Amino acid sequence: MMILRLALATVLSAYVAAQSASPTSSLVTYIFGDSLTEVGNNNYLRNSLARSDFPWYGIDFSGGQATGRFTNGRTIGDIISTKLGIPSPPPYLSLSLSRNDDAFLSGINYASGGAGILNETGLYFIQRLTFDDQINCFKKTKEVIRAKIGDRAANKHVNGALYFIGLGSNDYVNNFLQPFMVDGQQYTHDEFVELLISTLNNQLTTIYKLGGRKVIFHGLGPLGCIPSQRVKSKSGMCLKRVNEWVMEFNTRTQKLLVDLNKRLPGAKFAFADTYPAVLDLIDNPTHYGFKVANTSCCNVDTSVGGLCLPNSKMCKNRKDFVFWDAFHPSDSANQILADQLFSSLLASSPSPSPSPAPKSPSA
Ligand SMILES: *[C@@H]1O[C@H](CO)[C@@H](O)[C@H](O)[C@H]1NC(C)=O
Ligand SMILES: *[C@@H]1O[C@H](CO)[C@@H](O)[C@H](O)[C@H]1NC(C)=O
Repeated sequence: MMILRLALATVLSAYVAAQSASPTSSLVTYIFGDSLTEVGNNNYLRNSLARSDFPWYGIDFSGGQATGRFTNGRTIGDIISTKLGIPSPPPYLSLSLSRNDDAFLSGINYASGGAGILNETGLYFIQRLTFDDQINCFKKTKEVIRAKIGDRAANKHVNGALYFIGLGSNDYVNNFLQPFMVDGQQYTHDEFVELLISTLNNQLTTIYKLGGRKVIFHGLGPLGCIPSQRVKSKSGMCLKRVNEWVMEFNTRTQKLLVDLNKRLPGAKFAFADTYPAVLDLIDNPTHYGFKVANTSCCNVDTSVGGLCLPNSKMCKNRKDFVFWDAFHPSDSANQILADQLFSSLLASSPSPSPSPAPKSPSA
């Protein structure tokens, strides 16, 4: 784990250094994910039921309009992009292949609400870009880049980019944990996690073959504590068994990344462990300035719907809530989580006890 952290920190600090040395050197990021990172791909999928292009989504986003983000404001990815000094990459489906758009050169977001590692995950949303679909979109992206700048430069371009991947939540929430989906009936959890990891192994290897080298995989949060799962317990408590499954997925994924780094020359795949930070936010909301962590601001805690529809009765003070709807953190929670993620990614110092930054004015 430590080694992964260090590898990742090296990658990130190199970027931050390059950024300050020559502000024109632009960092390219590719984002693969689900509704936690989507910035509007599903708006272009006419029949998708996994959408957030209506109020009250986006009410705290700049402009106050719904964009296809599944929160009231910014995603963690938006906030990390700002920290890296780059614009949040646009949704892939907003780009036009025919115009041979220059935008293909400056980072793209492939994330799609409802998507999972497995193809069958989120089936009942009718349309979404599964992880395999997203990888195919990246393959097409690389073809466009190659046509534009040539083979060598295209390879260099994608080798140098930073890849953020966050998938797996829907493989639980919108697949294994749904009584009407086949996978939950067909597999034990041991078998299911095996299937997820072997599928992920192929997918990450494909991204590597397409030129991806610096990959940050976001582990899963404590899904047993999201409002849509809590409602399944009589007392509104976190579902312990679900959290145990998620932790097992995280452990197995970390092992996979270590293996891939050994097996694939030049691979720098790192695991971003978001589980402890999210759990602490949920267990101790008041430490972070929140009041409520066990129910959603939109008051839509059900195990089937759970999105913040236009007729939902929003909470008065959105900053008081860790959860915006039954699945997704609020803008304020994303801010805290992005701050923590970013500093943990950069906290690389190999020295055992880094000296704390001087406090002013008393220090
Ligand atoms: C999932 O779908 C993709 C693209 O539609 C396909 O290439 C792939 O073989 C499928 N994977 C499985 C395991 O069926
Ligand atoms: C949330 O927690 C508060 C305070 O502990 C409690 O009063 C309330 O009933 C809980 N709500 C739900 C939906 O579990």
